[in-house]
Amino acid sequence: MPRITYHEPDREFICEHEANGTILEVSLAHGIAHYHACDAKGRCTTCRVLVVAGHENLRHRTAAESRVARQRRWPDEIRLACQARLTGDVAVRRLVVDDVDAELIYPGCASPQPGCDGHEASLAVMFCDIGDFTTFAAGHLPHDVVHLVNRYYQAIGEAVLWNHGYIDKYMGDGIMALFSLGERDARRCCRAAIRAGLQAMARMAELNHYAERQFGRRFDLRIGLHYGPVVVGHVRSYVSAATKSGLQDTSGMRSITPSFQEDTGYGRTACRCRFEGQAG
Ligand code: FES
Repeated sequence: MPRITYHEPDREFICEHEANGTILEVSLAHGIAHYHACDAKGRCTTCRVLVVAGHENLRHRTAAESRVARQRRWPDEIRLACQARLTGDVAVRRLVVDDVDAELIYPGCASPQPGCDGHEASLAVMFCDIGDFTTFAAGHLPHDVVHLVNRYYQAIGEAVLWNHGYIDKYMGDGIMALFSLGERDARRCCRAAIRAGLQAMARMAELNHYAERQFGRRFDLRIGLHYGPVVVGHVRSYVSAATKSGLQDTSGMRSITPSFQEDTGYGRTACRCRFEGQAG
């Protein structure tokens, strides 16, 4: 029976288990609070261990682990515990273990329990903001800016909510929305996001009439849509609040909104869609 020697910061202990199990399976079977944020799918780094001895007694990296190791440029001694299968004795040191980690994983809990954050889902993400809003905000009184932003939030928020979207966050004049939590059909997610985007443009056109009267100017709404896998879960803040949030590779999203503009009939509006996977 393979044995794992755990080198923890304050102690050492040994656990035995069936051959071919993963290090993470052994940890959890023995009640060790071994963090595994992606639920053992090989898509995070939180379960990683340093193999102190017996490296040859672990099977080769899986494809998922190889991808992570390549990105991070890990040496052979760093392994993902959820992917590394045992063929013999090893000694490991967990790398996500200190009090700060424990507090992040189990807030306010003195004795952490094993667990994971968030779940994966394929969703449509809509991001929109107002072009050149910073200049407007800098040149107007704060209460006037807040007044306009509230009307803008209301207009875009209604377009999102009417299409079963979830407003994930507000960032100044930026709004990020998810379509649609709990929906598994890619087409429905995308259609809902596109409908919301079109309605948002129509609502912005109405808002522009008001802005023209009140502030003597119009605003350009910029919208980016993206469909693909995200991690949906609660992001904990330092204070205590927890928010549901969708996190994804947004490197594409960031470049979407300012880079593409066309006249849609609602005024000068930027809108671009990007899809990954089977959107249909
Ligand atoms: S739990 Fe995420 S990679 Fe192992």
